[in-house]
Amino acid sequence: MATHLASAPGRVNLIGEHTDYNGGLCLPFALPLETTVELTPRPDGEVHLRSAEAGRWDGTLDDVRAGAATGWAAYVAGVLWALAEAGHPVPGCDLRISSTVPLGAGLSSSASLEAAVAVALADHLGLPLDDAGRRSLATACIRAETEYVGAPTGGLDQLAVLLAEEGTAVLIDFEEPTTTRRVPLALPGAGLGILVTDTGVRHQLAAGGGYAERRAQCEAAARALGRPTLRPVEIGDLDRLYDPVLRRRARHVVTENARVTAVAAAAGAGDWTRVGAHLTASHASLRDDFEVTVPALDLAAATAEEHGALGARMTGGGFGGSTLALVPLARADAVRAGIDEAFTRHGLPRPTHHLVEPSAGARPLSR
Ligand code: GLA
Repeated sequence: MATHLASAPGRVNLIGEHTDYNGGLCLPFALPLETTVELTPRPDGEVHLRSAEAGRWDGTLDDVRAGAATGWAAYVAGVLWALAEAGHPVPGCDLRISSTVPLGAGLSSSASLEAAVAVALADHLGLPLDDAGRRSLATACIRAETEYVGAPTGGLDQLAVLLAEEGTAVLIDFEEPTTTRRVPLALPGAGLGILVTDTGVRHQLAAGGGYAERRAQCEAAARALGRPTLRPVEIGDLDRLYDPVLRRRARHVVTENARVTAVAAAAGAGDWTRVGAHLTASHASLRDDFEVTVPALDLAAATAEEHGALGARMTGGGFGGSTLALVPLARADAVRAGIDEAFTRHGLPRPTHHLVEPSAGARPLSR
């Protein structure tokens, strides 16, 4: 049977962290790191997964339906399940997977895997890959992650990797119904780049962890204010939150939404100094109000600025993972070396850096 090749990138979120599940705003773009999937349909209903990085899983479509896949294999099985649930004739298949997106680095290795599988299946099933088609694949990937895997994430990652385009970030507004707008990021023309630093400190977003706790706190804050989400909440409303923890969590979300709007406007106007200042303010808010940074993230962000970055922040869910820094290209090596040196001085392992530009979204490679 014909083979279908597809790839999907990881993502960084320029700004707008822990806003997606609060009906808020975020501004991600795709990385030049990606997961590649080769799908060969099988007539016998068997499912064989082979990952160059993670190992193997063997089962059948019945096992997939029964939720038998666990770990990394659940992200793949979840996509098969969600597309079948959406009414598509999903076949048994052999899937060969390889990825350059580091796992647990806050760069959406899981959404990248989900989207690559979804696009390979869409290619086989003849599903459209226009904007609407990509949105429904994102919906399937979100269901795979939240319902099949059971990670209570908010949808930013799947929309980002499926809707991304080279040279632009995607402004996603999660107020119902979710809308998107492209924001060109003319970084190279301005002599700038984004330096992504994977601290090597690993996170996980499973139910019961810090991520789920933050989400529950945000929902409690919205309830206490009599609102369906934190989206309509304004800064003046926060005085009515008497629990200091809930007040801090909500203050992060309210101020972060404002920063996303400000960064989209400043990037459009080419005001990169202002963009950098908002990135730095976002990090402080995630550190002090939302409390999802760790010392390695704080160190990487602060050191990037000491060595010439216009601004820096953690990206992704936090509790480990990566930072991004807006750097003049002429300073990129100095920033990288400064972070390495600071990590050595603090007894931390050497981090991994990627100097990136907004890259292409998920796509079939065999069309
Ligand atoms: C993770 C989740 C996203 C989002 C970010 C934080 O990446 O998967 O849904 O909540 O954390 O902004």
